[in-house]
Amino acid sequence: MEHAKQLEILDDLFRMIDNHENVDAGVLRQNPTDVYVDPDLAKTEWTQFFRNHPQMIGLSGELPEPGSFLTTNDFGVPVLATRDRDGKFHAFVNACRHRGSRLVQEKRGKARNFACPFHFWGYNNQGELTSIPEDQHFGQVDKSCMGLVRLPAVEKHNMLWVHPQPDGVIDVSALLGDLEQEIAEWHFDSMVFMDETTIDKRLNWKLANDTFGETYHFSRLHKRTLNNIFYGDALHYETFGRNHRFTFPSRRIDLLREMPRDEWNITHGAITLYYLFPNIQLILGRGTVNLVKIYPDGTNPSRSISKVGHYFSRRLLEAKQEAAAEGAAELAAEDAYNLEKVLTTLPDIKATSEVFDSTIEQEDYAMGEGTQQAVESGALPYLIFGRNEPALHHMHNSYRAALGQPPLEEYKG
Ligand code: FES
Ligand SMILES: [Fe+2]
Repeated sequence: MEHAKQLEILDDLFRMIDNHENVDAGVLRQNPTDVYVDPDLAKTEWTQFFRNHPQMIGLSGELPEPGSFLTTNDFGVPVLATRDRDGKFHAFVNACRHRGSRLVQEKRGKARNFACPFHFWGYNNQGELTSIPEDQHFGQVDKSCMGLVRLPAVEKHNMLWVHPQPDGVIDVSALLGDLEQEIAEWHFDSMVFMDETTIDKRLNWKLANDTFGETYHFSRLHKRTLNNIFYGDALHYETFGRNHRFTFPSRRIDLLREMPRDEWNITHGAITLYYLFPNIQLILGRGTVNLVKIYPDGTNPSRSISKVGHYFSRRLLEAKQEAAAEGAAELAAEDAYNLEKVLTTLPDIKATSEVFDSTIEQEDYAMGEGTQQAVESGALPYLIFGRNEPALHHMHNSYRAALGQPPLEEYKG
């Protein structure tokens, strides 16, 4: 992000904190609750937003070296993604061309070749069929035509994109729109993939997204957790087509008041969250990236599966290693939500991810599960999105526009 933009956002956050002001959408809106329960709408969303829409499957660090591979089955087609010996990223349908068995079972790993577990047909990581056992018994097969089914795959700005349809088109510039340059400037190439957590919950995928759409709840729901690290009720917010940037201050922002402005960096005092239509919440901190991908069940509007990928910058990991070598102290229980202490004290970097995940699962999504039950009862005709919750207005209006529906109605009280 350009430094001038960083200063503009930080100044705006200071203004809000100091004057007890907040972002203002200007209006309240009402969201009809059937969007969270309607099975026909769920089917349409699954088809249009997932089965026929490019999917960001991770940052480049998920395929860290030649020979790396990963598999995913999150959007209706089993995918095998590989990085070949030249470093090129490929994606294939993870299914053997003989009788369709799942070729690769492991979630991640390193391999140049894959053997199907059923009859051991062999493929390389460029998708070519290389061997058929007992081919004189099997009969003639033109191996050159029977490679794995290739899916469109694009690696750009250190992000990995796959299209679920073999004839689909991925235009990353169109997907990112006016955010493209800014996203490129985060330099995700320095981010090392650590692990991914799966959170499978009984709430609609849009309700799961909604929990990332405001900071109004920070000092309430997260009173004893995130509230120790962040200011809620102060949000800088900008839309970019269907996407948005959502920046909120950490309590460390106050340290910047003593620093020269030209040394200010947005990651020193704030978290920047990019929402990428339809289901990505990309949360950027100081040396950390949490990539949240939220998927519907596909057949059940009441269930969603969130995949939370954790990345740390190479520099941060090196600092951690040094700290571990020097025998850094264990983290005290009361500091579990003090991100700064977690990052600098704990030899085990996994703790930061666990803190992040448990907050989502046990606090945010627990609220969402309650909402899901309430809206399924049919007793609530709509939910209200406040003036301080502009991201909710925008995400839902983006879904609606994509499906040819009118924007949310204004709530007039
Ligand atoms: S199904 Fe893969 S080798 Fe037979
Ligand atoms: Fe939350």
